[in-house]
Amino acid sequence: MTTPSIVATPLVVALLAAAALAGVASAEKGGFLVTGDVYCDPCRAGFWTNVSTNIPGATVEVECRPYGGGPETLKAEATTNAFGWYQLEIDQDHQEEICEVVLAKSSDPACSEIEKFRDRSRVPLTRNNGIKQQGVRKANSIAFFRKEPLKDCGTILQQYDLKDAPETP
Ligand SMILES: *[C@@H]1O[C@H](CO)[C@@H](O)[C@H](O)[C@H]1NC(C)=O
Repeated sequence: MTTPSIVATPLVVALLAAAALAGVASAEKGGFLVTGDVYCDPCRAGFWTNVSTNIPGATVEVECRPYGGGPETLKAEATTNAFGWYQLEIDQDHQEEICEVVLAKSSDPACSEIEKFRDRSRVPLTRNNGIKQQGVRKANSIAFFRKEPLKDCGTILQQYDLKDAPETP
């Protein structure tokens, strides 16, 4: 739908600005602000298409575990707002750990499938990795999949030139 995205764009910008400000505050405390969005992938494309929409009220988890394996050192939950964005403050540095945002639950039963390996996005939550960054960590967008692709998906994916992709009907 075109209208909501036109309406949402300045709001998303404002949200990101607010997140950046909050992130500056948490950066001063030595923490991190993890933010990102959750969307529905109705064509099971693995990327945003023109029929994709953000999902409000979806839950994600931020999980960290040591590089060498072992028990989780962090597990925290966040829910997406009306625009499908979540944000979560993390107080501690997670050096030598793998931290990821992982899909937990969709609020839309029609778009709630969790696809293995495509359900997560890594976020570095340490300042000791040589990367000079602010405390805001924007995770890549992650998507729930529709169980049955929409019937227009063939045409839609053609415009992305993926005619031979296995998931295309
Ligand atoms: C998405 O793109 C397809 C193919 O170009 C088009 O037929 C369809 O109307 C578009 N849908 C929306 C919701 O914009």
